[in-house]
Amino acid sequence: MACVDSNAERIRQLQEGHIPIFEPGLEELVERNAGAGRLVFRDSLGDETARADAVFIAVGTPTRRDSQAADLSFVNQAARGIAERLDPKQGRTVIVTKSTVPVGTASSIEKLVVAARPELRPGRDFDVASNPEFLREGSAIEDFMQPARVICGTEGAHAERVLRELYAPLNVRGSPMMFTDRATAELIKLASNSFLAMKVSFINEIADLCEQCNADVQDLARGLGLDQRIGPRFLRAGPGFGGSCFPKDADALVAIAREHGVDAHLVETTIRVNDSRKHAMAERVRALMGGCVAGKRIAVLGVTFKPNTDDIREAPSLVIVPELIAMGALVAAYDPAASANARSVSAFQGVLWVESAEAAMREADAVVLLTEWDEFRSLSAQRMAELLRGPIVVDLRNALEPKDLQSAGLQYYGVGRGRVQPTPAHRPGRDRKPD
Ligand code: UGA
Repeated sequence: MACVDSNAERIRQLQEGHIPIFEPGLEELVERNAGAGRLVFRDSLGDETARADAVFIAVGTPTRRDSQAADLSFVNQAARGIAERLDPKQGRTVIVTKSTVPVGTASSIEKLVVAARPELRPGRDFDVASNPEFLREGSAIEDFMQPARVICGTEGAHAERVLRELYAPLNVRGSPMMFTDRATAELIKLASNSFLAMKVSFINEIADLCEQCNADVQDLARGLGLDQRIGPRFLRAGPGFGGSCFPKDADALVAIAREHGVDAHLVETTIRVNDSRKHAMAERVRALMGGCVAGKRIAVLGVTFKPNTDDIREAPSLVIVPELIAMGALVAAYDPAASANARSVSAFQGVLWVESAEAAMREADAVVLLTEWDEFRSLSAQRMAELLRGPIVVDLRNALEPKDLQSAGLQYYGVGRGRVQPTPAHRPGRDRKPD
């Protein structure tokens, strides 16, 4: 298998065995397969394209600057490059879109190939198929090896046969394959992410309600999830969803719906609810600190959009941290994987980056947990109490154990875990000194 990217520096790093992203297990996997000669990296399309049974386009589809729609320029550029190299004499190639793309992209790629190479006939000399990916960052390998489903949008028996063969090892191990038309496959991807985003926003709203009713959202989510029609996953309340997929794909779905004159009220509202939630979380911290954070030191634990990644794209931290700083707070932040990258992010200007959770918490008036990294779950409540100057722990991921923290003399505030009582305006600081 040959992996091609136009970024020559990235390819050089990969050839040297350096993985430019943080993804558990990926380095070993690449090393093993590159070492065995099964995997090579190139900075331009080569002869392999003409001989390949399938070429996957997996480039980025960022949101366009001028609208909510996806920017297809990288996809089209890749498709043009592939078109130039197709050679039916060396075998029929299936061009497969793995990138998350708007509905109709497979058919527009087909037209693009024909425009570039009028002598080629789709469905005879080449095929275009859609095969959306459902990997989650942080568990991408597991999701790839044991996918809940493999969705393939094909037109014609040849593309179906090639993809069936390709995924046979996963299918044999129990992952179902579903074949559909290309537009449906493209839409399944956007609908999946939009639905999951909606589920997260739903539980976040219910968490707010739990706080007003003195109920517990975690028990509620368990109760809800026991209904198999609802399912237990993606019901963790938090500071709002982030990442490079949910926000972008929900936007893309809304853009496509608009284009087709269809209302996508639920997804539109999900986006709005999620955006305002991030701001509300900064306000929540302010309220819990007595209505004013000016001059107070706040320890922020975790800035990535979720654990086990160094990705901070669209992370709630990008809204919450700058707002706390704008309110006058002094923020000391630590993230197990992203502290280094985050230093150069303009939204984090003014943040003091430290090397450990303990360093962030030392002499802080409050601690705000933004990402549920395992190492934060295992923090000792007693040690936190020793380090902190103030008693306030705002756990926006419900990752910590309230009872332990309360027994250590700290004030615990989770999300949707009973009534949130803001603290009085002037609260005495901690009376013990850190050792
Ligand atoms: C998401 C989908 O889960 C994958 O199936 C899909 O392949 C991927 O997008 C993609 O389109 O490439 P990912 O963005 O890696 O994967 O992250 P998720 O685990 O889905 O989490 C997204 C956001 O929702 C995170 O900010 C996470 O903290 C938040 N979330 C998730 C919650 O707040 N509560 C939950 O219960 C679950």
